[in-house]
Amino acid sequence: MVKICCLGAGYVGGPTMAVIALKCPAIEVCVVDISVPRIAAWNSDQLPIYEPGLDEVVKQCRGRNLFFSNDIEKHVAEADIIFVSVNTPTKTRGLGAGKAADLTYWESAARMIADVAKSDKIVVEKSTVPVKTAEAIEKILAHNSKGIKFQILSNPEFLAEGTAIEDLFKPDRVLIGGRETPEGQKAVKALKDVYANWVPEDRILTTNLWSAELSKLAANAFLAQRISSVNAISALCEATGANVAEVAYAVGKDSRIGPKFLNASVGFGGSCFQKDILNLVYICECNGLPEVANYWKQVIKINDYQKSRFVNRVVSSMFNTVSGKKIAVLGFAFKKDTGDTRETAAIDVCKGLLGDKAKISIYDPQVTEEQIQRDLAMNKFDWDHPIHLQPMSPTAVKQVSVTWDAYEATKGAHGICILTEWDEFKTLDYKKIYDSMQKPAFLFDGRNVIDAEKMREIGFIVYSIGKPLDPWLKDMPAVA
Ligand code: NAD
Ligand code: UDX
Repeated sequence: MVKICCLGAGYVGGPTMAVIALKCPAIEVCVVDISVPRIAAWNSDQLPIYEPGLDEVVKQCRGRNLFFSNDIEKHVAEADIIFVSVNTPTKTRGLGAGKAADLTYWESAARMIADVAKSDKIVVEKSTVPVKTAEAIEKILAHNSKGIKFQILSNPEFLAEGTAIEDLFKPDRVLIGGRETPEGQKAVKALKDVYANWVPEDRILTTNLWSAELSKLAANAFLAQRISSVNAISALCEATGANVAEVAYAVGKDSRIGPKFLNASVGFGGSCFQKDILNLVYICECNGLPEVANYWKQVIKINDYQKSRFVNRVVSSMFNTVSGKKIAVLGFAFKKDTGDTRETAAIDVCKGLLGDKAKISIYDPQVTEEQIQRDLAMNKFDWDHPIHLQPMSPTAVKQVSVTWDAYEATKGAHGICILTEWDEFKTLDYKKIYDSMQKPAFLFDGRNVIDAEKMREIGFIVYSIGKPLDPWLKDMPAVA
C-alpha cells in the first residue's frame, strides 16, 4: 500500500488529503500537524474548518485510510510521498518584510523530513511558495540526508475556500512540476498516478519545477487583477450613472474575457491573493524588474482604495459622521460558505468605521466573537499601503459587539453594511429590520446581494457598489 503523509492540517492539507483518501482506497493517508487542538478537532465531530461537503468526506474515510495525528516523525518516516502544506505567510520582519514569503515553517518541515527519513521519498510542495523554492529545499534535504534520495515536486493547489470539495472533485487542472531527469520524471509519474484515480488525464498538466511554482502565483495574480479591474470600473460607474453589473455582463460576454470573477465588491480578501501578489512583487524586485513589480502592486492598491472608498461612502452619506451611531455589519468572513476571516475586507471596513467612532454590531453565521475581536485587535503590519495602519484602541474595542442573530445586530441601527455575500442575507425580513432601525435607515451593500429597488420601496436609502446612486447619496459630498 502506498503511504502518503501531509504536513499541515489546514484549509488546504485537510480537504485535499480527505479527497485523496476518498478517491484512492488503496492509499493510506495521514495528515499531521504541530497544533494539538487542530488535530483533535479533525478527529472530532466539530472539524476545525467549515467547508460544504467536507464532513461527509471525512466521515467516510477517517479511521479507514485517512488519519490525523500529531506524531509527525513516525508518519513522515513511514511515508512514500510527503506533501508539505504548511502556512507560508508574508514576512513581517527583516529582509523583504511586508512582501517576501516567510518560509520558516517550510524550512523547519524540510529539516525534519531530512532528519527522520530512513528511505527514499518524494517531497511535494503543496504550499504556495516563491519560484525556486524547490532548489532551496533540495539543498536542505541533500545536505542533511545521510545518503537518502529525495525528489522534489511542485504541485500547487488551486482550490478556493467555500467550494474546496467541489474544486478537488472536479479540478480545472492538476499541475505537477518536476526535474527533467529520469528520477524526476519517475516521481512525476508516481504523483500523476495518484490523481489519475479520479482526474481525467488531459487535466493533469506536467511542467518543469519553476513553471509549476510560478503558475500558482501568476494564477492568483490574474484572478485578483480581475476583481481590482472591475472594482476600479465600479468607481467610475458611480460617478457616471453606469451600472457595473451591466458593464461586467457586457464585458464578460466576450469569450476572450469570460463571465466569471467579475463581481464588483467591497474588496477581495482571503489568505492568498494579497500574500501571493506581494510575494510576486518581491520576486520581480529581486530580479531587477521594478516596472513589473509596480504593475502587480497596483492590484493591491486598488483593493485598498475600494475598501476605504466604501468607508468614506458610509460616513459621507450619514451626514459626514458616524460618531456614536450604531452600524450593523452583516458578514465578517472574506467570502460566503467559509468561517475564514484572513485578510477579510470586513477588518479594514470595521476599523475605518471605528476610526470615526461608530458603534458596530456584527453578525456572521460562521465567525465567532472571539475570532472577530482577535482580528480587530490585531495590529497589522504596514504592507506599504496605509489602510492597515490603524491599531484598535481599548476604547474602540468596547464599541464592537457580536451577535448570533441578524435581527439583533440591526435593531436600533442607523445603518447596515453587508460585507459578505451569505445567501441568507438575500432573504432576511428587511421590512422588519427597517421598522426596528433609526430613520433615515441606510443600507450599504458591499456585495450587491440585495434588490436595491425593493429596499427603496421599504424606505431604505441604499448604496450598491457601482450602481446608479440614490438621489440622497448624489447630494452628499463626493467620495474619494
Ligand atoms: P493553514 O494555516 O490553514 O494551515 C497550515 C498548517 O500547517 C497549520 O495548521 C500549522 O499548524 C501547520 N504547520 C506549520 N508548520 C508545520 C510543521 N513544521 N509540521 C506540521 N505542520 C505544520 O494554511 P492553509 O490555508 O492550509 O495554506 C497552506 C498553504 O497552501 C499556503 O502556502 C497557502 O498559500 C496555500 N494555499 C492556500 C489556499 C487556501 O485557500 N487557503 C489555496 C491554495 C493554496
Ligand atoms: C483563491 C483562488 O481563487 C484559488 O484558486 C486559490 O487556490 C486560493 O486563492 P480563495 O481566496 O479561497 O481562493 O477565494 P476566492 O473565491 O478566490 O475569493 C477571493 C476574494 O475575492 C474573496 O474575498 C471574494 O469575495 C472576492 N471576489 C471573488 C470578488 O470580490 N469578486 C469576484 O468576482 C470573485
